Amino acid sequence: MKKQITALALAAMMAAASLAGCSSKPAETSAPETEAQTEAEQTKAEEAEAAEAENEETEAEAEQSENKGVLVMATNAEFPPYEFHDGGEIVGIDVEIAAAIAAEMGMDFEVEDIAFDSIIPEVQSGKADFGAAGMTVTEDRKQSVDFSDSYATATQVIIIKEDNADIVSPDDLEGKTIGVQLGTTGDIYASDIADATIEQYNKGFEAVQALTQNKIDAVIIDGEPAKVFVAENEGLKILDEAFTTEEYAICVEKGNTELLEGINAAIASLKESGELQKIVDKYITAE
Ligand code: ARG
Repeated sequence: MKKQITALALAAMMAAASLAGCSSKPAETSAPETEAQTEAEQTKAEEAEAAEAENEETEAEAEQSENKGVLVMATNAEFPPYEFHDGGEIVGIDVEIAAAIAAEMGMDFEVEDIAFDSIIPEVQSGKADFGAAGMTVTEDRKQSVDFSDSYATATQVIIIKEDNADIVSPDDLEGKTIGVQLGTTGDIYASDIADATIEQYNKGFEAVQALTQNKIDAVIIDGEPAKVFVAENEGLKILDEAFTTEEYAICVEKGNTELLEGINAAIASLKESGELQKIVDKYITAE
């Protein structure tokens, strides 16, 4: 009984398939088809159906990406080796960590390159999902955004001209002209130095350029980018004594615990697997 129904159903299906095939064919070929022909028609129909289903899937996927499948990372790609332009691409430690986090969370991600002091507002407004920019955790910023667990320890250092015998320790910055990147912790610390004149630049390397041109006496900036800038420019050195020690973390909109927990879980697993260290080692060679 079961067999018979199956056979009948199959026959009906074949008839339907051949009918569908006939309707699109010119009249003169409407003679009874051979079995091979019918089979070929059927395979074609199946293939078309499968292709259509696949199409629908991609559409659905695309739609999902638009909605919640893509994490938007806000950064300021003027901060090697954490984020910088390499040809047409934005690369660096933060970019790779963010990509790994997104992958761990099963999401795509894209990078939005904006001014450093726009990152927190962008995250607060929800235009970006998170900020990853070698951003130091500070009490002040904690009022505006939530921070992930730290993924790096950093320092603020002082860059001066190699032949400057006047500045040997951070205390010597009193009364000097100091260049910083606008809105960074270097900017904040500089503003505490007595009688100092602060020159704020949009990009860290612009401050370094001003130093090479003797327009300013020193630059306060994060240790790793300082090393890159000093290596790229002749006649500069970094003071041995660092200014501060800080922690870098990723920021999210206040109260977005779901994303924050996802990011923290991903950071933990990247630390444990050694992947995080691998990324760092790719960009920072141990001295
Ligand atoms: N760590 C410093 C801060 O949080 C500087 C970060 C600058 N980052 C950048 N991508 N430009 O203020």
